[in-house]
Amino acid sequence: MLITGKTRIVGIFGHPIEHTISPYMHNSAFETLGIPYCYLPFDIDPKDLEICIRSINPLGIKGVNITIPFKTQVVPYLDELDSNAKLIGAVNTIEARDGKLIGHNTDGKGFINAFNEEVGISISKRRFVVIGAGGAARAVSTALAAEGAGEIIIINRTSLKGKELASDLLRNFYDLKVSAIEFDPYKINDLIMDGDVIINTTSVGMKKSDPSIIPPDILRSSMAVCDLIYNPPETPLLKAAKSAGVKFMNGLGMLIHQGALSFEIWTGLPAPVEIMRKAMMNVDKLMRNS
Ligand code: ATR
Repeated sequence: MLITGKTRIVGIFGHPIEHTISPYMHNSAFETLGIPYCYLPFDIDPKDLEICIRSINPLGIKGVNITIPFKTQVVPYLDELDSNAKLIGAVNTIEARDGKLIGHNTDGKGFINAFNEEVGISISKRRFVVIGAGGAARAVSTALAAEGAGEIIIINRTSLKGKELASDLLRNFYDLKVSAIEFDPYKINDLIMDGDVIINTTSVGMKKSDPSIIPPDILRSSMAVCDLIYNPPETPLLKAAKSAGVKFMNGLGMLIHQGALSFEIWTGLPAPVEIMRKAMMNVDKLMRNS
């Protein structure tokens, strides 16, 4: 990639950041299209978040993705939120436009696009069990509600956070049936067995030593299982889904689609989704062999 005086900088703010594979996806797209952009990772010490966000415009940075742990923390430092970020209460994409910082959230739509592509069952009227209540759970459950999901059951370790998410969903989607339950492996089995689609939004499954977030033997073949984790490509939960003959997807498709939507916000061009997917499939191959 040739960096010149005209190169436009975009990137990702997070902490830690070494794990990110987004630079590979975006830089492959920029290079293939031959447009003067470069995507960089920024490891931001949490105490410096405000000054870093406020430096985006003075440095001429065109926009950034926001990842763990800053998706909700950045909100007070932005000039505007688009309607979607407002609804979700979290931001994964900042756009620098005319001296202002505008917050977007492409995670939810990214999840829906991947779900339609990989799981391919209708969302309307179905019962979803969402495990976790952080930024990712907020984006996914809000997008599912907007797509007409019939019921969303939030299961979270910290029961207050689950309840807050459930009440935000109810406030915005009057017809939705929503409940929030504290995560207790012994109490959640019946709820999960009643679900059509189980979605893990927690980080359980990332570490080699992690167990499946739910007991594998409660999966039924009529369910679908989604894990937002993409590294490792197959978490214990997805291994269990595979051996139970259940439809499943990992987080790679969501990563690609949320990235494609961010790309469009920054460049104003249609995202080369297939190029981005190809780049990510190469990384996926490396992850599977490591
Ligand atoms: P993200 O923005 O990726 O969603 P997050 O906001 O840190 O990340 O949220 C992570 C979610 O995973 C939280 O709901 C967290 O539960 P708490 O609200 O109780 O913190 C959940 N989580 C993380 N580790 C967990 C574990 N070991 N068991 C159960 N839930 C876990």
